[in-house]
Amino acid sequence: MANNALKTERKYKTPPADKIILINKYGWNKEPTSKCSERALAVASCLVIVLCSAAACVAVYHSWHREDNALQDLQVIKDIVVEHLLRYNVSRVAPSKVISCYYNFPSESGTGQLMPADIHPYLCTHINIAFARVVNNEISLEKYQYNTLLDIVKLKHDNPGLKILLSVGGAKNDNGFPDMVSNHQSRKTFIKSIKYLLRNYSLDGIDLDWEFPALHSSQVGGRERQHFSQLLREIRMEYIREKKNYVLTVATAAPQTIVDVSYDVDQLNQYVDFVNIMTYDFHYFTKFTPFTGFNSPLYRRSTEQLYLATLNINYTVQMYRDKGLDRTKIVVGIPTYGHTFSLVNANNHQVSSPASGFGSLGSSGFINYPDVCTFVSNASNVTIVQDNEAKVPYLYREQEWVSYEGPQSVMEKAKFIIENDLGGAMIYSLNADDFEGVCHGEMASPSASGFPLSLTVSNTLKNSVSASIGDGPY
Ligand SMILES: *[C@@H]1O[C@H](CO)[C@@H](O)[C@H](O)[C@H]1NC(C)=O
Ligand SMILES: *[C@@H]1O[C@H](CO)[C@@H](O)[C@H](O)[C@H]1NC(C)=O
Ligand SMILES: *[C@@H]1O[C@H](CO)[C@@H](O)[C@H](O)[C@H]1NC(C)=O
Ligand SMILES: *[C@@H]1O[C@H](CO)[C@@H](O)[C@H](O)[C@H]1NC(C)=O
Ligand SMILES: *[C@@H]1O[C@H](CO)[C@@H](O)[C@H](O)[C@H]1NC(C)=O
Repeated sequence: MANNALKTERKYKTPPADKIILINKYGWNKEPTSKCSERALAVASCLVIVLCSAAACVAVYHSWHREDNALQDLQVIKDIVVEHLLRYNVSRVAPSKVISCYYNFPSESGTGQLMPADIHPYLCTHINIAFARVVNNEISLEKYQYNTLLDIVKLKHDNPGLKILLSVGGAKNDNGFPDMVSNHQSRKTFIKSIKYLLRNYSLDGIDLDWEFPALHSSQVGGRERQHFSQLLREIRMEYIREKKNYVLTVATAAPQTIVDVSYDVDQLNQYVDFVNIMTYDFHYFTKFTPFTGFNSPLYRRSTEQLYLATLNINYTVQMYRDKGLDRTKIVVGIPTYGHTFSLVNANNHQVSSPASGFGSLGSSGFINYPDVCTFVSNASNVTIVQDNEAKVPYLYREQEWVSYEGPQSVMEKAKFIIENDLGGAMIYSLNADDFEGVCHGEMASPSASGFPLSLTVSNTLKNSVSASIGDGPY
């Protein structure tokens, strides 16, 4: 690549450019252009010149003619483009499964953040922008966040099938729900605010993430669960009245103890398009659970009994099915982040070992995937263990103990979704995945340098649909 880039640079320094666009390192044009695109390589009047550095390619578009002698280098240029684009090898097969990805708003200031234009438009089928709040019974965003909505919606220029949803709530961000659902008038106010927001920003729907109805309710015999069902029904009715094909989804709890209290599952089944089940945070450090454990185990471990035997994806999925949720509405949550623990005794590093607190990595016990990769490649003596029962890895070094997901474990989860004929996968979150491509070897995706976990899920689900990829990666 480096040699090619140099060669190209020398040859094409002088010609005036009609248009300069950036192809970022995921092989995706930051600003899609109207006439010249990479497809234009094949047509007569358009020539693209690409100058690549390690981080990005600059493409210079010229409206030249075939007889121009620069054309003999077309193949060289094409090779550079193709090689570069393959680094972010997203299948464009129209998937029959949902790939529902959470994207957290970037903060107002700050660098190194995942920006909307860095998200490949074919990586996910649904993007949930997270999170809006409920304030005075209306949906509410910070002023600067509206620009993010506008930028995300631009991804639909290239993938018109992509659905953009606004996710409302989230852990500790959902205190507006109890009052809002409590009566017909306040629900109506909320639904009206949704209607305007979807219309004004060309969004495709709403995802409700209240954690969790009726769980913290101080009202004895409160009716939050019923009111939540009522809200879903009224939103669906409003969509129908509007004659819009809007999407309504919910993010729900995984543990049965919460599900029993919070949801009328048959009502969810009736009114939502699908359910993003948060099948993670099964284990993390708290003073009541001071033990190592897996964030998102696929199956139970044979030593786990009673309640502990229910804390895994396989159990949660079966439980929702038993409660009446259609297979096709079950969307299994896959985390890209991990949980860290601090071992009481460095020599006692099995699963379920005593822990004294969060680990030193990450923040408050949460660690993003690239930080796991950096730790593994920086520190000596990191031991990685694959748990063959739960189908997830963990690692430890001295006091540090980390439960995380790698390409292998998320692929196991995607295969589980295919084998059980479920609706699809939910990914939390794109931001916590390795979007800059710092992971290497087994911790990276074999064919691309960005988003190794999300991309593995996406391509595994798409490849299950058709064995032959007709239209190639890009
Ligand atoms: C949507 O646009 C209308 C005017 O067309 C405006 O009154 C309303 O405040 C806007 N709402 C939102 C949420 O942007
Ligand atoms: C997964 O759940 C099903 C249904 O509850 C159960 O029959 C099966 O044994 C479980 N699989 C594993 C590997 O635990
Ligand atoms: C890994 O090493 C680099 C370069 O030495 C350093 O900047 C970075 O802080 C290290 N990261 C961790 C997690 O140790
Ligand atoms: C790595 O582990 C070996 C044996 O367990 C020990 O001798 C060595 O000092 C450790 N190295 C580091 C850098 O911790
Ligand atoms: C791109 O992905 C397709 C299907 O996922 C795969 O067959 C192909 O080998 C990949 N290309 C590269 C260069 O890795």
